[in-house]
Amino acid sequence: MSENRIPLAGVIGSPIAHSKSPQLHGHWLKTYGLRGHYIPMDVSTDNLGQVLDALPKMGFVGVNITVPHKEKVMEFADLVTDRATLIGAANTLTFQKDGKLRADNTDGYGFFENLRQNAPNWNVKAGPAAVLGAGGAARAVIASLLDAGVPHILLSNRTRVRAEALQSEFGKRIEVVEWVQAGNMLEEATTVVNTTSLGMLGKPPLRVPLDGLRKDAVVTDLVYAPLKTHLLAEAEKMGCTTVDGLGMLLHQAVPAFERWFGVRPEVDSATRAAALR
Ligand code: ATR
Repeated sequence: MSENRIPLAGVIGSPIAHSKSPQLHGHWLKTYGLRGHYIPMDVSTDNLGQVLDALPKMGFVGVNITVPHKEKVMEFADLVTDRATLIGAANTLTFQKDGKLRADNTDGYGFFENLRQNAPNWNVKAGPAAVLGAGGAARAVIASLLDAGVPHILLSNRTRVRAEALQSEFGKRIEVVEWVQAGNMLEEATTVVNTTSLGMLGKPPLRVPLDGLRKDAVVTDLVYAPLKTHLLAEAEKMGCTTVDGLGMLLHQAVPAFERWFGVRPEVDSATRAAALR
């Protein structure tokens, strides 16, 4: 790509209209006075390879990848970061100058930074973490918690075998708990994470008995629409520190923006407002 071409980036998924990434990257480009555009692209699985081939020729420096392509894109990568290998999925692709396609996964980073920023007293090592759900999002959360030194993880999922699969993959520091007994995990946990889609607009709320929830627990939900889920509202009533899921979305975008546009962006109240527009 010639040096004076305007760098392009974007997000690929299907559907893609709901994505907040265009507002977010657009806000940072404007804030830092950078040349560049960030474009949402609805791409089917069948066309993914062809699109990834064409984009660098059109001046794209990278793309974010979202549902349903996060696992599939791994097939097209020439270089895969350790954390993307561990999670088995990528959310950030970079079209390198040497022609190689680099795949990274910044979801776990985003999860961790969100808690660090919004629950300053949170200590991942203080006690076990209770993780609800065992899908793709749970993989990133679990990898990040283990990497940061959580003592152990109590993992509960409606479909138990999916939790067991994660347990055999990630090892002994994970204990699987029956979905109907998920409330019991909360007596021990100092970090509580909902990675299920329950609580999202249009879905039923996540209803776990919270009677045993520790007052010193930090409770976070990956759901960000609505910002205050039933889980967070109830946990807040019980005096817990709660952190909504929007910050994870904002923080996971930081390493991508820096790599593509050369500036490490701040995540602040203006960033949140831009993503919510
Ligand atoms: P993601 O990649 O976003 O994690 P996913 O792989 O489809 O998406 O996982 C969604 C998670 O939400 C799973 O843990 C799923 O539980 P199952 O493995 O049993 O499907 C959970 N989930 C979705 N709807 C649910 C419901 N009605 N009750 C309980 N868990 C639900």
